[in-house]
Amino acid sequence: MTYKVLSSLTANNVNSADILKVKTDLLIIGVNKKTSSASELKDLKSSSNSMIGESMNEINNGTRKSIFLPAPAKVGAKNILLIKEPEVDAASFLVIRHFEEIMGMIKSSKSKDFAFLMSSATPKKVDLNWMAEVAARTFEAAAYTFNATKNKTAKPVTVKKGAMLFSGLTPAKLKSVKSSVQFGHAVGEGMNATKHLGDLPANHCTPRIIETKTKALKKDFPALKISSLNEKDLERLKMGSYLSVGKGSDEPSRMMTIEYRGGAKDKQPLVLVGKGITFDTGGISLKPGSAMDEMKWDMCGAASVFGIMQTLARLKAKVNVVGLLVCAENMPSARATKPGDVVTSMSGQTIEILNTDAEGRLVLCDALTYVKKFKPSHVIDMATLTGAVVVALGTPATGVMGNDQPLADKILAAGEASGDRAWQLPLWEEYAHCTKTNFADLANIGGGREAGTITAASFLSNFTKEYKWAHMDIAASAWTGGAKKGGSGRPVPLLAELILKGNL
Ligand code: BES
Ligand code: MN
Ligand code: ZN
Repeated sequence: MTYKVLSSLTANNVNSADILKVKTDLLIIGVNKKTSSASELKDLKSSSNSMIGESMNEINNGTRKSIFLPAPAKVGAKNILLIKEPEVDAASFLVIRHFEEIMGMIKSSKSKDFAFLMSSATPKKVDLNWMAEVAARTFEAAAYTFNATKNKTAKPVTVKKGAMLFSGLTPAKLKSVKSSVQFGHAVGEGMNATKHLGDLPANHCTPRIIETKTKALKKDFPALKISSLNEKDLERLKMGSYLSVGKGSDEPSRMMTIEYRGGAKDKQPLVLVGKGITFDTGGISLKPGSAMDEMKWDMCGAASVFGIMQTLARLKAKVNVVGLLVCAENMPSARATKPGDVVTSMSGQTIEILNTDAEGRLVLCDALTYVKKFKPSHVIDMATLTGAVVVALGTPATGVMGNDQPLADKILAAGEASGDRAWQLPLWEEYAHCTKTNFADLANIGGGREAGTITAASFLSNFTKEYKWAHMDIAASAWTGGAKKGGSGRPVPLLAELILKGNL
């Protein structure tokens, strides 16, 4: 199963006359001071008497931000959308927002396909390849709509195809731009897979349902090797900490492994570990009711593993990556783990569970012990781990911590390059006292209201001593509330950048 929305996203070189011939529901043209006189728009402008030229002037002088026009008779497109481009020195998030807005208009105009003329006057700071990649990624990601639990008869018209048009490119440049578009499209596809799993309500997305969906990836991506462990298997592995989380639930826990080996046989893999709590009630340490529905997204770490593995397979990436989806449902019941209970983790370290709502670290610590069997070059875990990171950084940034500064630096750099940003918090020894207790080797909480994000990472660091490790707290970045409530598909863009271009 693939979660791609746009079945094709092509890239081609066009000249002024070609633009008139493009058959599409919607031809989109970015407007800035330079495009108004761009030679590739000469024929289009003269096809409409002065309509298009005047509309561009209106946009350039700030009267309007975008103008939607029925296309003149001589033009192959049905409609034309003129839209103001971000300033040449605009921050990445504004460029991303621009492409999101364009896709919003494609959708609201009910166009089934579109052609987007990439401005030849791109921002100086970035090159055309970056623009092409981010446009392709954002078009695919923003084309996503969630329909799975809506009445099927009300299914809206959806955009199916896109064409990205460029002008004046040499054959070599066109070739490299085409590969940027292909890259961006595959990243967007991975983001959509991640968003879809996250957006599914918890009763439609249990650990066993994630297992089925993970196994189904094999059909479209035969290069992926998929396996899963049930609770019996986890018991045999002595994952007492992981199992303690699902104890209160009628839904059994499952841990899936997706292996992709496109690199040299002897190259050690990168291992990705995703927190997959399909619903987090808090357990016996029950959460308050307000916005508790959002805890259906508590499996977004696992969902981003699910997404990035598809992107790697789609791109036939020459890398070795193993992804783990560590799934369980955190519920209160007569069988549930209670505050004060002590469990034994796979590592042998015992853990006093002082708060059953700090469950993410309990599933992750056993997975982080298990991954040693893959002899990883690096391990990165992704988890919606703490409310504290929402307070500390808010939605713009994923929180990063770890035991290897070069790895953390590469993650931060991949965040900057992709526009899917991350920020590092210190994981100093000073914080280790938070997980001390009189009754076990470790406590799963401590330190009160102080540095909650770091306390969680500090707990995990007791299980990651034998390899280079980074932890990404995506509690703030993985989904958004408000009118656009839904999964964000992050940190798939960051991971794609890191794995495919980051030189790990
Ligand atoms: N899944 C939550 C973290 C979370 C909370 C993510 C809100 C997004 C929004 C996690 O399992 C949790 O409950 N963490 C607790 C830890 C605390 C008990 C030490 C938290 O952050 O409150
Ligand atoms: Mn919790
Ligand atoms: Zn949680």
